Amino acid sequence: MVVNDWRKSVVYQIYPKSFNDTTGNGEGDLRGIIEKLDYLQYLGVDYIWLTPVYESPMNDNGYDISNYYKINEQFGTIDDLETLIAESHKRDLKVMMDIVINHTSTEHEWFKQAYSGKENPYRDYYFFRRSADNQPPTNWESKFGGNAWEYDEKTDEYYLHLYDVTQADLNWDNPEVRRALYKVINYWIDFGVDGFRFDVINVISKGEFKNSSKIGKEFYTDGPRVHEYLHEMNRQTFGDKDMMTVGEMSSTTIDNCIKYSNPERQELSSVFNFHHLKVDYIDGEKWTNAKLDFHQLKNILMEWQTGIYNGGGWNAIFWCNHDQPRVVTRFGDDSTEALRKSSAKMLAITLHMLQGTPYIYQGEEIGMTDPHFDSIDQYRDIETLNAYKRLKNEGYAEDEILTILGQKSRDNSRTPVQWTGGENAGFTSGTPWIDIPDNYENINVEAAIEDDQSILQTYRKLIQLRHEHDIITYGDIEPLYMTHDKLFVYKRHYKNETWLIIANFSKNKVAIPEGLDVEGEIVLQNGSIVNGLIEGFGAIVVAQ
Ligand code: GLC
Repeated sequence: MVVNDWRKSVVYQIYPKSFNDTTGNGEGDLRGIIEKLDYLQYLGVDYIWLTPVYESPMNDNGYDISNYYKINEQFGTIDDLETLIAESHKRDLKVMMDIVINHTSTEHEWFKQAYSGKENPYRDYYFFRRSADNQPPTNWESKFGGNAWEYDEKTDEYYLHLYDVTQADLNWDNPEVRRALYKVINYWIDFGVDGFRFDVINVISKGEFKNSSKIGKEFYTDGPRVHEYLHEMNRQTFGDKDMMTVGEMSSTTIDNCIKYSNPERQELSSVFNFHHLKVDYIDGEKWTNAKLDFHQLKNILMEWQTGIYNGGGWNAIFWCNHDQPRVVTRFGDDSTEALRKSSAKMLAITLHMLQGTPYIYQGEEIGMTDPHFDSIDQYRDIETLNAYKRLKNEGYAEDEILTILGQKSRDNSRTPVQWTGGENAGFTSGTPWIDIPDNYENINVEAAIEDDQSILQTYRKLIQLRHEHDIITYGDIEPLYMTHDKLFVYKRHYKNETWLIIANFSKNKVAIPEGLDVEGEIVLQNGSIVNGLIEGFGAIVVAQ
């Protein structure tokens, strides 16, 4: 089905390294994606978003780009990408590229030049600063641990890296940098891509370099010139093309996100925010072991749903991506097969009936779980390994640390897609770059296709419903029973239609609140309502 308004579409995120390996080297590749396009067409999604496939030393799995115009050999060739786009288009699938322009790898030619000396013309592409007292210019912390400034002995200056030390922040205040980056985007537009996901795009405009009482966030998050830059980027690149764009917004606000995504402002089409995924943190700290705060989850989701809708902006809605643990383990229950299935379906229904553009992260549609690793040797992610070292230094016991990593590590979602019950889950004929959870014999795409009650079938149905019913895309949202401990309830309204959505976040039966009229035509249901009780992890959509 061809969807002509991007707002009605569903996006499928591909993390190529873990998608499908055709060479036997244990890492996925572009040809592997081409092989699975028929499956994505069967699923029914409209867009695929490829996380970065450019040349990169892969310290942060491609978010450290060393050449924006080249494809990482490990993933294949530029011809493979061309074929991938052509084959996708044949199947009415559009392709979004990931654009990482807050920083480059320190192996990028620009950085190498800049690093070579103070007088080099590229020096001002980055932030090199000195400090008066031989200390880093500010006390800001890198998001991956340690100080955000790296010392360069040769010139006695420091360069800024908000992420890994090999990811140097670009200086957007330099118009030459902006021009060079717009050229990159225009190159990929001409190449034939249909949209972009912009990595951490709300931190590109740095404010003053001053000491912070926090980690420095207040100086660069939604920074002073960010809206001006995004508007300029829009005008210089994709703005007059039929393209869907989404910006990844770190620690942002509703007001800023309305500005980023309200079409009148000509910045981006839509925004990702992460507040609803910090509801199992303790005091905002990720590397802790905490349970889901259900009230907080509802409050945050609904505040964003209504806030963005009323402000004329557009949300991207998601539970999972390559930086987040698997949602069925996180907010559902993967302790038994029945609970895994019912909670995954309930979570899917809850999310896909919200307002915004839904994203499905590879493997989510079959209810893949966290791998439950039990040794540090199984982890690969740079952020996780840094957190491990820090927690060790702070005196945490090994098993405590492993519990925390088991809950929070980005590797939880980076294990290979489980395609079959065969060797290595059908992902590779070689040795996978990261361990595959044991449950692949049972949880895999092949089995999910054969089972008409599978989680996969719920996702297919949800995508189909979105394509067929405008209320899901355009309707407003009315949060209900916000203080209920177990139920997530809301209504959607559009023209003269009303849909009621009730989801039970607990594994036990829960009474439908008195006075809530559940009569109507059932659009979709997972478990039923019997004698006024909704089943454990039940979810129901009723047209009223
Ligand atoms: C984004 C990416 C993440 C990456 C970071 C730095 O948050 O999703 O994977 O590590 O940006 O580029």
